[in-house]
Amino acid sequence: MSNDGVNAGRRRFLVAATSVVGAAGAVGAAVPFVGSWFPSAKAKAAGAPVRVNIGKIQPGQQLVAEWRGQPVFIVRRTDEVLSGLDKVEAEVADPQSEESVQPEYVDPKTRSIKPELLVLVGLCTHLGCSPSFRPEVGPADLGANWQGGYFCPCHGSKYDMAGRVYKAQPAPLNLPVPPHSYETDDVLIIGVDQENA
Ligand code: FES
Repeated sequence: MSNDGVNAGRRRFLVAATSVVGAAGAVGAAVPFVGSWFPSAKAKAAGAPVRVNIGKIQPGQQLVAEWRGQPVFIVRRTDEVLSGLDKVEAEVADPQSEESVQPEYVDPKTRSIKPELLVLVGLCTHLGCSPSFRPEVGPADLGANWQGGYFCPCHGSKYDMAGRVYKAQPAPLNLPVPPHSYETDDVLIIGVDQENA
């Protein structure tokens, strides 16, 4: 009898341990990889906030972190990139993010706390593929007025460098901005709101 209790307890432990290993194994590749994750795998599996060292992201470069099993795009935008947002203002579907998911402390147009730092959940709002980072200006396949942004390889949705979806795309909404805050200039916390930092 007592053995049954022990075995049941052990089974529960094994199930829990397996799920933690599974979550840790899902950590995605960062391109380029310059970040650090401080919480344990168990904490991440539970959806804990994630601290990311952003100090080495160069202007124009993207780092991909992971939070709650989702890719999070972090981009250090240049002044040129920020001015490009104005050039596509008339082409995006929800320029002030009135319908889209973002914390209220985020500027509606740049969609960021600090204009130079963009933080987005990297999942297309159509069917959840992860869009490709396309920072070039005017590439042949995306058109002369392309000011950099994201292209979803699954069904072709396009987003600008604030994650704002272009008009008439399969995706209905801008890429979500997750709750986030800055512990220092070099440490971003994903999953903790700015006012609670
Ligand atoms: S999942 Fe991105 S366009 Fe369909």
